[in-house]
Order: sequence, then C-alpha cells, then structure tokens
Amino acid sequence: MQGHKRTSYNGLTGERRKLLAEAERATSTAYAPYSKFRVGAAILTQSGKIITGSNVENAAYGSTICAERAAILRANAMGYRSFEAIAVIAKGDAPIKQPTAPCGACRQMLYELSSSAGKRLEIIFSNSDKSKIVITTIAALLPFGFGPSNLTE
Ligand code: THU
Repeated sequence: MQGHKRTSYNGLTGERRKLLAEAERATSTAYAPYSKFRVGAAILTQSGKIITGSNVENAAYGSTICAERAAILRANAMGYRSFEAIAVIAKGDAPIKQPTAPCGACRQMLYELSSSAGKRLEIIFSNSDKSKIVITTIAALLPFGFGPSNLTE
C-alpha cells in the first residue's frame, strides 16, 4: 500500500482521535434503511472546525448521498471549503471488519476541494471497532486525478 499507513487507534494523535469520534457519532444520524450500512464522516477545516455528515439513502437507490459528500456539502453551505482532514467510519448490524474507504465519487469531490484550496488533504478511515485504521491522502487515493488545473493548463 503505497502512500498509505496502517495504524492502530493508539497510533492516532489526540486531534485525529477526536475527529474519528465525531465521525462515529455521526453514524447515528445516517438514513440507511436499505443497506443498514451507517456511515459517518467528519471534516476538520483548515480553521480547526469539525463538520460532520452521514449517508442518506433513497428508495431510488442511485440517488443515495454518501457521508463524505454530505459532510462536504454541509461544510460548503457553512462557508468552509479548505480542509485539513476527513475521518470516515461505518457501523452495521454486525461489526464492519474492514476499514471503510471513500468511494470513487467522494474521492473525486475531495480531490477537487484539496486542489482548489491548494492543500494536502489527509484521509483517515476505520473499521467499526477502530482496530484497523488507515491514514492516507487524497493524492494517494486518487493518483492522476482530474482536477481544476486540467481545465486550464
Ligand atoms: N457509503 C458512504 O456513505 N460512504 C462510503 O465511503 C461508502 C459507502 C454509503 C452509501 C450507501 O448508503 C451505503 O454506504 C452502502 O453502500
């Protein structure tokens, strides 16, 4: 796994533990009656604010919005578009054994915002009991990503 670091909960800084705790708390607001896969995301803005989101499913399944994009849209609506980190965790009826990584659509949106802000964006994702955690960056999760500069350079 290049550019990605596996860690334990104890290997996280206090700031990252808090971010993951907020993401975990946000799973309780997920609307996931179909998959029962409740995802929470917590964004840390460059100014130090934490903004959370959770997935919102739809009977027309394709209209579902992931937790990460829900958090991004919420942050944008609150006037924040420059992010330092995002933490993601999911809860199911049974434990989710593997860390829940952002889907492709969410990676694309995170790539846009890290590019437009000109900042590195850290991504922390965890399994449901926090025994397996990955720390990486959007650059590592989306190599050769298509971003704002591709339209102009
Ligand atoms: N989901 C997220 O919210 N974030 C992810 O990183 C992975 C998938 C949601 C979408 C859907 O509501 C459910 O999880 C199952 O795919």
